[in-house]
Amino acid sequence: MKILVINGPNLNMLGIREPDIYGSDTYEGLCKMISEHAEKIGVEVEIYQSNHEGSLVDKIQEAYKKADGIVINPAAYTHTSVALLDALKAAGIPAVEVHISDVSKREDFRQISYVRLYCEKTIAGHGFAGYLEAMDYLKEAAKQ
Ligand code: DQA
Repeated sequence: MKILVINGPNLNMLGIREPDIYGSDTYEGLCKMISEHAEKIGVEVEIYQSNHEGSLVDKIQEAYKKADGIVINPAAYTHTSVALLDALKAAGIPAVEVHISDVSKREDFRQISYVRLYCEKTIAGHGFAGYLEAMDYLKEAAKQ
C-alpha cells in the first residue's frame, strides 16, 4: 500500500511558527515520525510539502492510480481552496484530513473546510500524532 502525505503552506515552518499553537517540533521531525510509522505498519509513504496551491493540485493529480491513500493537511488552503477539493474528487483516492491544532476551537474563518466534503475522516487537535492516526485509518480501511 502506498500513502501520500501532503502538507500545505507554512507547515515547513513548524518549530518556528506559533509554537504555542503548533508545538516546538520541526517539520523534519514530523517527516521522521511519519517515515518511522510507515515502516512500523508496513506501508510505503511519500511526503510532500508546498506553499503553492497549484503545486498541491499537481501532486494530487499525479497520485491518480498511483497512491492508495492520501493524508492531507492543506493548512490555510483548507479554508479557501475549492481547487484542492476538486483535485481530490478527480483523483478519487481515499483521503483523511489532518490538522495539528483543534481548528474547531479557533477563529470563525477556520470553521470552513472544503476538503472535508471529500475526506472520509477529519483528525484535528491531536498534534503530529494525527498524521499517524490517519495512516492507521487508511491502512485499516484498505482491508475492508
Ligand atoms: C492547520 C490549521 C489551519 O487553520 C492553519 O492555517 C494551518 C495549520 C493545522 O494543522 O492546525 O496552517 O492546518
